[in-house]
Amino acid sequence: MLFKKLPVIFCTVLFLNTTYADQSVVIRSPDGNIRLSVNNKNDGSVVYDLSFKNRTVIAPSQLGFAFKLPELSLNRFDIITIDSSSTDETWRPVWGELSSIRNHYKQLVLQVRDRTGSGIMLKIVFRVFNDGIGFRYEFPKQDKLNYFVIADEFTQFAMTGDHKTFWIPGDYDTNEFAYYTTRISGIDATGGGKAQEISAKTFYDKNAAQTPLMMKTDDGLYINIHEAALVNYPAMNLIIDKSTNTFRSHLVPDAVGNAAYLQAPAVTPWRTIITSDKATDILASKTILNLNEPSKIKDVSWIKPEKFVGVWWEMHVGKSSWDYSGGQVGSQQATRVPHGANTANVKRYIDFASKNGIPAVLVEGWNTGWEDWFGNWKEDVFDFVTPYPDFDVKGLSAYARSKGVKIIMHHETSASVTNYERWMDTAYKFMKKYGYDAVKTGYVGRIIPRGEHHDGQWMIRHYVRVAQKTANYHIMVDMHEPVRPTGLQRTYPNWLACEAARGNEFNAWSVGNAPDHETILPFTRLMGGPMDYTPGIFKIKMSYYNPEKKEQVHTTLTKQLALYVTMYSPLQMAADLPENYEVHMDAFQFIKDVAVDWDDTRILDAEPGDYVIIARKAKGKASWFLGAITDENARNFTTSLDFLDPGKKYVATIYHDAENASWNDNPEAYVIDKFIVDKATSLQLKLAPGGGTAISLLPATANDLKKFKEYR
Ligand code: NOJ
Ligand code: CA
Repeated sequence: MLFKKLPVIFCTVLFLNTTYADQSVVIRSPDGNIRLSVNNKNDGSVVYDLSFKNRTVIAPSQLGFAFKLPELSLNRFDIITIDSSSTDETWRPVWGELSSIRNHYKQLVLQVRDRTGSGIMLKIVFRVFNDGIGFRYEFPKQDKLNYFVIADEFTQFAMTGDHKTFWIPGDYDTNEFAYYTTRISGIDATGGGKAQEISAKTFYDKNAAQTPLMMKTDDGLYINIHEAALVNYPAMNLIIDKSTNTFRSHLVPDAVGNAAYLQAPAVTPWRTIITSDKATDILASKTILNLNEPSKIKDVSWIKPEKFVGVWWEMHVGKSSWDYSGGQVGSQQATRVPHGANTANVKRYIDFASKNGIPAVLVEGWNTGWEDWFGNWKEDVFDFVTPYPDFDVKGLSAYARSKGVKIIMHHETSASVTNYERWMDTAYKFMKKYGYDAVKTGYVGRIIPRGEHHDGQWMIRHYVRVAQKTANYHIMVDMHEPVRPTGLQRTYPNWLACEAARGNEFNAWSVGNAPDHETILPFTRLMGGPMDYTPGIFKIKMSYYNPEKKEQVHTTLTKQLALYVTMYSPLQMAADLPENYEVHMDAFQFIKDVAVDWDDTRILDAEPGDYVIIARKAKGKASWFLGAITDENARNFTTSLDFLDPGKKYVATIYHDAENASWNDNPEAYVIDKFIVDKATSLQLKLAPGGGTAISLLPATANDLKKFKEYR
């Protein structure tokens, strides 16, 4: 690691323990394209501004807090010291989109003291990368500050205009909203409050939006605001002042209205601004990961990215139920249907997984409690160790083992988190006893302790505790309905994925996800970390299950395949039913082949809300996979395969929309072509409305070279 002191440019000369009016300091990214300037004005405010290639990204914006204890506004400071340094290091993630990641930045540390006389000192730390910045507040150990309570944080992000924005409503409890694409002036969170399909939501301000927030300026700058390393602090929402296009942070409060309880030394999460004139750079950014701490787990040999199938979609489409009595509590289904997690049915999924090389099977609805699991804000719901009488936990774990398959545990907490905390150790021991090494948790409903929110400090601490505790048991975890991720998968690599956004399941029982949804998610939710989106739905229209149903998945079948590449996750579900795959085994071949862990990733082309094209190289292998998706518009692309190894021939298996396919009229029509390609090949991709293309590129054998034609 290279760590050295750097000269910084001062507009005013600074000396230790001396304060001056209107001092500013400028620091540039390693490549010089990003310029950060921090200014201590004569009124004591500290403002920062940011530019990319001489274009303003963030106009002068204030920093600071409202403290509850001691009660004061912390936004007028004297600068005590300014330090700068530079880091250039490379690290290897346990799993990820790349085999190694460069962490290259310049750092500026301002030590400041409250000017109003409290004596409180803090540090404001900025890191400037080639694709953006991160900054955070640090409260060092000091005589004048021990325990303290933050009422709110007032970090501003002043935009230079009324940019195009991809946003979801600000909320304390959910991130499962559909995206809106409007100007900044069009942000209005009241629609979120009305989203009937979301069970627990807390509307609080019509001008509030959530991060990751994605923007595009009229002159083509892309700007993404989010946070990194959210631990022991509430999540940050943004509230817009439309008269100045300025966002300010708003922290999710707790049950009594405070934001954060801290003890010095303490640090806040990093506030991140990723920016570029190329949309592809936003998706390629590793800044949020780089701002997180290295893995706290020493032995990571047991952590394995994997694909899985599950007794799951059949409940969402109303074919079976979570609860034993078949009453379908919480699934909008009035008629009685069979209990899904019965031994015979689970064996069917195990057989399918085993036959097709899928390592794991998720089983939901295996444990007692689903008859009355949400809506009543009741504390004792599930015990996580008592199976329904028709789920033979012992027999099934032996059966799964004999077939070389793992069962993934399901812990729906129904947001009764106090109850889950009491059961966690018992539940994880139960898992180990029966050979389970991964758990999907869930937090549907209003949180208990009552009054707490999904995104408040209490719950943030809970999610991290679950990651730590599961790690102690060598258990991998996938969380549904948690706070949206902030790169903590670097620190807790057993925390493989989260839902934390509107997943594919909304297509089964609600208005669903518009065709542009999956082109927005990589620029928003996935900036923080992998998503358990549950792709791979082949039966697109829900009328197949019940003629009265109007719901549908808003994509074509081959777009569902492309999502395995465009929607990065080390945990990918093949979400549809075995019987729906069995009639399309030719298309299912892509799901069998596609990797979940990668040595290399190339963002080939992308535009938020329109299209995304990504190619990835399988970890430790010569094979590549390419995914291309579009919104509701048909699109054609010419895509060069120049990322392939020189001198090598590959068989490209191209899974694409049929000529007359479209997400609404003819979503399941696809064609599979095979050609010989190499580095010099350019492919013509034709995507149907709401469509996509998935391509596997496997090294060609001598036989392949005889059998398939060169692509032309
Ligand atoms: C919501 C989760 O997102 C979904 O995957 C799960 O099946 C249900 N909750 C029940 O736990
Ligand atoms: Ca969910």
